[in-house]
Parts: sequence; structure tokens; C-alpha cells
Amino acid sequence: MSHAEADHDTRRSRQWLAGEARGAGVDRDRLLELGAAMAALTAAADEREPVAVAPAPVGVDPGIAKPLPPDLLRPLDTNAEMRWTALAGQGYVVPNDRFFVRNHTVTPHLDADTWRLRLFGTGLRGAPTRDAPVEFGLDDLRRLPTEESTALLECAGNGRRYFAEQQDDPAPGVAWGLGGVGVARWRGVRLGTVLRLAGLRDDAVDVMPEGLDPDYVTGGVNLGRVRRPLPIAKALDDVLLAYEMNGEPLPADHGFPVRVVVPGWIGISSIKWVGPVEVSTTPLFSPWNTRFYRMFGPGHPAEGTVLGAQPVKSAFELAWDARVPAGAELLLRGRSWSGNGPINRVEVDTGDGWRPADLVAADRGGPWQRWTARWRPPAPGRYTLRARATDATGTTQPDRATPNALAYLFDGIVHHPITAF
Ligand code: MTE
Repeated sequence: MSHAEADHDTRRSRQWLAGEARGAGVDRDRLLELGAAMAALTAAADEREPVAVAPAPVGVDPGIAKPLPPDLLRPLDTNAEMRWTALAGQGYVVPNDRFFVRNHTVTPHLDADTWRLRLFGTGLRGAPTRDAPVEFGLDDLRRLPTEESTALLECAGNGRRYFAEQQDDPAPGVAWGLGGVGVARWRGVRLGTVLRLAGLRDDAVDVMPEGLDPDYVTGGVNLGRVRRPLPIAKALDDVLLAYEMNGEPLPADHGFPVRVVVPGWIGISSIKWVGPVEVSTTPLFSPWNTRFYRMFGPGHPAEGTVLGAQPVKSAFELAWDARVPAGAELLLRGRSWSGNGPINRVEVDTGDGWRPADLVAADRGGPWQRWTARWRPPAPGRYTLRARATDATGTTQPDRATPNALAYLFDGIVHHPITAF
């Protein structure tokens, strides 16, 4: 069975359209209506609306728990993006204090002592129900064999603002620059290990982790808890139930005490604050794979099309509108990444044509690639820096990204302004 996100989604879309949906949160006709509305762009402002948060459960503070120093993070609605300058001089992974936060509502403050992972559904032997699940506490998980994975997390909307700023395309939703991405060293237990201990049946097909953050309410509809199904093949492959991030207990904003990490898939798959996990012998659906995280708009059918892997992107570890001395040699640094595999080539243009950047050898084959390029701004004035990468499939970043109604998967070359003085 293929582990590719797009293949899985294509199959599930067909099943969903054939009326096999269950657990989508809202019924199929309503979702189709919503899909059509999105295609017509009438729902364009949907994700931008202030999120209506259900009354906060006891122990939940509004917003994000960690400090948001302006030199490290930029707040965006209920989220915060990493400033790329904050990576200058850092190592391969993004330190926890500057890792981007994507919250549909707010960071819940959960008690590790009472927290339980609760597995249930027809895909488990004995078919435990939601009310009588198979449970694991944090200590139970810590006793199981540990696994470490250096994985990249990226929001599907990362780079969205450049649809509007560089292309004049509508870009509804969170206006991410390029800072909705990060790589961390995650440590935990394989989801597969826990599924097997919970009595996984051979005929289970889907696994749906659910977050313990408040219900997500948008456009007057309560879509319930943030959740998104995974096919069993992926769940048994490299998916982690992580309880550590870069050697520390998972921070509150990143899913304490336990989150799912789905390497290579878009960020929404990596459910934070995981609690219930449905395991099913029939396909599972949620608004997060039927309504959001799909391509709508011209060229796409009413129900939208699948969101493939994250495309190729590049960013300079420089402030937007950075000021640098004219005439002095600079070592420009940046990173490139692609959901389709390692980066093979990066080129940089400082105003006089494309030339190759130097790739950091130690990073070859990893989830992102650091690179450097020398540049001596010849005279005071304004310049535009551009970087474009090519991944292992031979795909190079285009000048323009292909627009879609919800403005996902921006892969165009970003024009980074800089002033020499
Ligand atoms: N899980 C829950 N429970 N609630 C959320 O809002 N956001 C998702 C995903 N998991 C989300 C979630 C999205 S869209 C992304 S991009 C990643 O978490 C972001 O992870 P981070 O906040 O640790 O960077």
C-alpha cells in the first residue's frame, strides 16, 4: 500500500463522494455545499474570521503559552510564525523558544498525571468503544521502546502572504510569511507499537488522532476537535507519539504531554495534545481532510482536489528589509526544503543573475538543507535577494506559484528586499 499522502487522499475522496463518509463532523451534502462556496471564493475570508472559541475549560489560558519575543516570533491571530533572522547562527534544528505555533484555538494546559491516550474503534480487537477505550498514561508510553526522529513540520499555508504580495492573488487565511516551518528532534514511541499493544486488527484501515484543545468553531459551525485520519500503513510506518522536542519535555504550545508527528506530511496531520485515537476498519473523515487542506478554485472540482506533499521552498536567514553595509562581503545564509525529498541544488540571485549556493554537506538528504552564498553589495541602495531550490525529483521553484482558493502550497521564488547603506 502506498504511504503517499496524495494517493491516500485521492482514494478517500472517492469514497467520501460515494457517500461512505462517517465522522466528518458535518454531513456530506453540507460539505459539498461548503466546497462549492469555496470554489466561488465566497468563503475566502473564512479562515481569517476571529475564531469563536468554545468557553475555555478550566486551566486553559487564551492564546499561546510561551513568550513571543518580537525578534524570535511574529504573532498572527491565534498563531505565531518564526522570524527567519532567529535562525541565523543556529544549528540544524529550530530551538523550542522560536518554533512556530499553529493553533486553531488556544493552547490547553493539560495535566500529565491525569492525561490518557484513549484508543477505541472497530479496528481494535474487542472493539473498545469511545466510552471504554484502551488507555495508556504518559508513564506507560515512556516505558515502551523509544524512537527518535528529526522531522520537519510545515503548515500548508506557509508562504501564503506572497500569493497576495507578489502575485495579487487572493490569499485568505493566516498570512504566513515563510516562518510556518521548523525542524525538531522528536522523541517518543512509535504509534505502531501502541496500536499493536492496543489490539490492532489486521483489517484496520484508518487511524484518527484527536486533539484535546477546544472545539474549532468557524462560520457558525462547530467542527469539533481538531482531528485528521491517517491510513494504517502510514500509522504503522514512521509516525511517532512524541513526548520530547529537542531533548525537552514537549512544550505546552507544541502538544504537551504527547503529540503525533507524521514525518513528510503537512503539519495538520501532526495532531497536538492527542487524547482519543479512533482505529477503524472503515475509512474515517474529518473536516481537516474534506473541507480544509484541499485545493479549491479554478481548475479544481467543487469538492476540491487533494493537497499533495509540501512543495519546494527557500528562505534567507535574514530580516525582511535587512540593512547591510555596502562594499563589505557578506555570507548570506538560508535553508531550502521540499516534501518530495531532499534538496539537490540551490541558486541565489543578488541582482546580477543566478549562481549556485554552497550546500552544507552535513545536511545532505535531511528534511531541510542549509546553504550559503557570498555577496558584496556594490553600492548603497535597495536590492532584491532571491533563492530557488531544486529537489530530488528535479522540481525547481517557479517564478509564480499556482493560485488556489485557500492559498495553500506557495512555492514561488520569494523576493527578499534588502538595503545596503
Ligand atoms: N493539533 C491540534 N490539536 N490543534 C491544532 O490547532 N494545528 C495543526 C497541527 N496539530 C493543530 C494541531 C497544524 S495546522 C500544524 S501546522 C501543526 O500542528 C503545527 O505544530 P506546532 O504548533 O507545534 O508548530
